Amino acid sequence: MIVKSDPAKIAENFYCLGPASVPSFLLDGDHPVMFEAGIYLFGSHYYDQIASIMKERRPECLLLTHVHFDHCGAAGYLKRMIPGLTIGASREGSEIIKKPSAIELITKLNRFGKDDVSLFEPFTVGRVLEDGDEIRVSRDLSVQVIRTPGHTRDMTTYYIPEIKAMIPSESVGVPGRDGYIMSEFLIDYDVYMNSLRRLAGYEVEILIISHGVYYTGDDARAYIPRSIAATERFREWVERLLNEHDGDKDAVLRAIKSEEYDVIEGEKQPEPAYLLNLAAKINTVQRRMDVR
Ligand SMILES: [Fe+2]
Repeated sequence: MIVKSDPAKIAENFYCLGPASVPSFLLDGDHPVMFEAGIYLFGSHYYDQIASIMKERRPECLLLTHVHFDHCGAAGYLKRMIPGLTIGASREGSEIIKKPSAIELITKLNRFGKDDVSLFEPFTVGRVLEDGDEIRVSRDLSVQVIRTPGHTRDMTTYYIPEIKAMIPSESVGVPGRDGYIMSEFLIDYDVYMNSLRRLAGYEVEILIISHGVYYTGDDARAYIPRSIAATERFREWVERLLNEHDGDKDAVLRAIKSEEYDVIEGEKQPEPAYLLNLAAKINTVQRRMDVR
């Protein structure tokens, strides 16, 4: 069941659209921009909320953090509904999204078990974003592009300096229960950590987490240092387990899953996606140990 929620106002001219678990965001101004395109299923949800906030006006640009299925799912739909919309992403993202294999995977993951329906509209990136690019929204409002690979190769963080708001998506991990932060270094541990350390150098008053929450004030400032510590702890844990299990990655996978995933009650990431990501992280740690 989809329950329509009212758009949440995060700050002046800055809104969260759609369900909190898979949101999109709007920064309104002379040249309004959206961030993140969630899943296909919620496309009309994001669009209706844009219309309710903006009336006859529409965003000019949609900025993607990365082209995972739950971050670009509705981009093609939004482009069809808003023909003037330019989709912005990193060069890597613009290349990945051209690949039939990527389109097939994103489509499959957007189906949520409904095999007979096509739930993704392919799109092209109209504006390739480089590190350091600036997008002017109004005279006193801008968006800075910060390339933060590590979770994926195409990962991009957006920063709005005038309100000290950061949209890092999974560059900063995902909060779990009791203050736990799940590390998300799918591609490379050191590259991910370098990106995290770089983000720690920014002043942050509003930190947008990709699924479910955003942090403000002290909580926002504390989160990235906490995420750095959590990532180091997780890497040490994987190293310890790999040593204990003589490099048996399946045994390490089972040990971590039982402590990190099986203990979560209620809503959590689907198991196949969790296992895929965990296996990728164990691989990157093992590769790192091999070269040291
Ligand atoms: Fe992701």
